[in-house]
Amino acid sequence: MSVKSICCIGAGYVGGPTMSVIALKNPGIKVTVVDLNQARINAWNDPDTDKIPVYEPGLGEVVGEARGRNLFFSTEVDQAIADADMIFISVNTPTKTYGEGKGQAADLKWIELCARQIARVSQTDKIIVEKSTLPVRTASTLKDILSNTGNGVNFQILSNPEFLAEGTAVEDLMAPDRVLIGGDDTPEGKKAIEALVNVYGAWVPRERILTTNIWSSELSKLTANAFLAQRVSSINALSELCEHTEADIDEVSRAIGADSRIGPKFLKASVGFGGSCFQKDILNLVYIARTYGLEDVADYWEQVIIMNDHQKRRFAKKIIKALYNTVNDKKIAFLGWAFKKDTNDTRESAAIYVADHLLFEQAAVAVYDPKVGAQQVYADLDYLNTRSSEENEKLLTVGTDPYEVTKGAHAIAVLTEWDEFKTYDWQRIYDQMLKPAHVFDGRNLLNAAALTEIGFRVHQIGK
Ligand code: UDX
Ligand code: UDX
Repeated sequence: MSVKSICCIGAGYVGGPTMSVIALKNPGIKVTVVDLNQARINAWNDPDTDKIPVYEPGLGEVVGEARGRNLFFSTEVDQAIADADMIFISVNTPTKTYGEGKGQAADLKWIELCARQIARVSQTDKIIVEKSTLPVRTASTLKDILSNTGNGVNFQILSNPEFLAEGTAVEDLMAPDRVLIGGDDTPEGKKAIEALVNVYGAWVPRERILTTNIWSSELSKLTANAFLAQRVSSINALSELCEHTEADIDEVSRAIGADSRIGPKFLKASVGFGGSCFQKDILNLVYIARTYGLEDVADYWEQVIIMNDHQKRRFAKKIIKALYNTVNDKKIAFLGWAFKKDTNDTRESAAIYVADHLLFEQAAVAVYDPKVGAQQVYADLDYLNTRSSEENEKLLTVGTDPYEVTKGAHAIAVLTEWDEFKTYDWQRIYDQMLKPAHVFDGRNLLNAAALTEIGFRVHQIGK
């Protein structure tokens, strides 16, 4: 079958960019992205494409070209479901904050609600595509809900995990390493797989589109993220050893990355990985393994997160120690709050945890991020629920000018690897700081020799 109309539920970091590129490359398919959040949809519809709610290089242009032609953003969820022959589910699946599996299992509340809504509204056969990252075997839950509607509609369920990384979403979507599609090994299942292969086939070479059974596809997404996160934790574990041995972690990364069996990517030591996926997906893996009684498997993967938490804590402790073991009332300027550069996403960002640790010590943290505003910073801290909002606002400030934010500070902590930080007038920054002036470079981003020359005390990861 050929798809004429696609609906995507969830206009977030995944649904928005993915559907924009699908629409751009398939002008003959009507693509409607729906969301419960009216403000978010309004922002997607803003005539000024700089104001769309997800910041991604190149995304504004893609939206500008396809929107209104065959790409639509709306809150009319029922209508869009009813009209579509293929529905992507791209709602968020956060880690549960309550009940059984709290802190580990994914909260599938939104997924189930979506399935029930689809079941209620549908009058024609549909292909349902899991785009959200989900625990293995979620498709069977979806199938169970959908096949018991009693109104004779047939649903085929596919898993099509997203591998795009934030900050390079458009690039990753335009030229993916692979597209993965999992489905049933039945004639109807195969037809559904073929329909989705054709959507991607509009621009992705056929040999890059992998098809598997549905459980392999679901598990592959978790595994890919677990492997990537494991590389970061591995290099971060060694960064601590470097700091004690005069080995240099960047040199070690380069040396091992040159081995083609290892490869150079995801070997950058840092203050710790963040983002909505790595931690959540590993927790999912750990939870599933424990569910099957596989304690050794669960412990093995859990260690990746334990190391990451250690790295964030270690960074905060290093700041405190260098400032003579007291940061009470000392201004510490943060450059960066997003979990990586070129995104305004702050979910699970290391900056949040480092700030929290310093606020416990009553530091006066001042934050500057080129794409993240005060409202988001406070929301992230409040979400931790470790102190009152009033106290967070009293202790921490957010500025819009890096020179103001760093003025009078004892130390600067670099939490995100934004390119613009490298272009600052560091002499000017130094002149305005209290002495000795420290830079804690949590991304090994800046030119340490040049900063030392100016007079800074520079602390990098793994050096
Ligand atoms: C995605 C995936 O869905 C998630 O599983 C993956 O691990 C990370 O990426 P993302 O797009 O980043 O999530 O999430 P978010 O930006 O929070 O977007 C989800 C959207 O779904 C929100 O705008 C929310 O309002 C919407 N939503 C949620 C609905 O429209 N309906 C619901 O029932 C629930
Ligand atoms: C990840 C996966 O890469 C992507 O395929 C999946 O679909 C979603 O999850 P994302 O979370 O957007 O993407 O970012 P990613 O580039 O993977 O970075 C994750 C975190 O690891 C960031 O905080 C980043 O700064 C950190 N990181 C990455 C390092 O600390 N060192 C590295 O070498 C690489």
